[in-house]
Amino acid sequence: MTERSSSNSAFKKSGVRKRADKIKPYRCKNLIAVLEDPTDIKNLGTVIRNVNALGVEKTYVVDPRRALPDDWQEMRERKSLSKISVSAIKWSFVKRFDSTEACLKHLERYNFVSIVTSPHVKGRKNIILHEGDYTSYTKLAVWFGNEARGISDLAVERSEFCVSIPMFGMIESLNLGTTSGIVLYEVTKQRREYQSKYKRAGKRRRKVTGRKSD
Ligand SMILES: C[S@@+](CC[C@H](N)C(=O)[O-])C[C@H]1O[C@@H](n2cnc3c(N)ncnc32)[C@H](O)[C@@H]1O
Repeated sequence: MTERSSSNSAFKKSGVRKRADKIKPYRCKNLIAVLEDPTDIKNLGTVIRNVNALGVEKTYVVDPRRALPDDWQEMRERKSLSKISVSAIKWSFVKRFDSTEACLKHLERYNFVSIVTSPHVKGRKNIILHEGDYTSYTKLAVWFGNEARGISDLAVERSEFCVSIPMFGMIESLNLGTTSGIVLYEVTKQRREYQSKYKRAGKRRRKVTGRKSD
C-alpha cells in the first residue's frame, strides 16, 4: 500500500467513524424487524436496507429452508445480499432461526414483545398503522410474513396486536419490502421522538395498550 492510498483509506475510515457517531443517538434501541420465511432474496435485501436506513437495531430471519448462513460474518460477505442491500448488510446485524417457534422463544427469553403485520384482520387486536402507539413496549419485535402465505398463526397467537396499512386499490396486499419501509418508518419515528423526549428524564410512560388514544 502506498503512502497516498493508506492516507486515503484512513480518511475514508474517519468519514465512516464520523457518520457512525452522528447517527448513533438516532438509532432505535431494542427494536427488531423479524422476517418470517421470506422467499425472495430481493425482499430480504430491501428489508435490510430499510432496517439500516431507518435505524432499526437488528433483523431476525425465520429461515426454515436454511438459505442463510448461521454466522453473521459469513452473511455479510455474501455478494448477493451485499449487492441487493447496497452493503447495508455490512452495517446491520442479521440473525437467522430455524423456525418461528425458535425465534419467538429467543425473543420472549429476552423480554421482547412481538407485534405482527398483515393486510388482513388477524388475532385478537387489530390496529391501523398510524393509530398505533409503538412506544409502549421497551423491547419490540415487528414481524413481517411470507410473500405468499403471509404471517403464520403461531406468530399471530404470540403477538400483542396486528398492524395493517390501509389499502385503497384492487390488489390484496403490498410487497414485503415496501411494507417494511412504511411500517418501520412509523415505528422508528415514534420511538425516536420518545427516546429523545424521555431519555434525559430517565423515565418511561405508563404502559398502554397499543392504540395512541388508549
Ligand atoms: C405479500 S404480503 C403477503 C400476502 C399474503 N397473501 C397474506 O395473506 O398476507 C407479505 C407481507 O407483507 C406485509 N403486508 C403486506 N401488505 C400489508 C398491509 N397492507 N398491511 C400490513 N402488512 C402488510 C405482511 O407482513 C405480509 O405478511
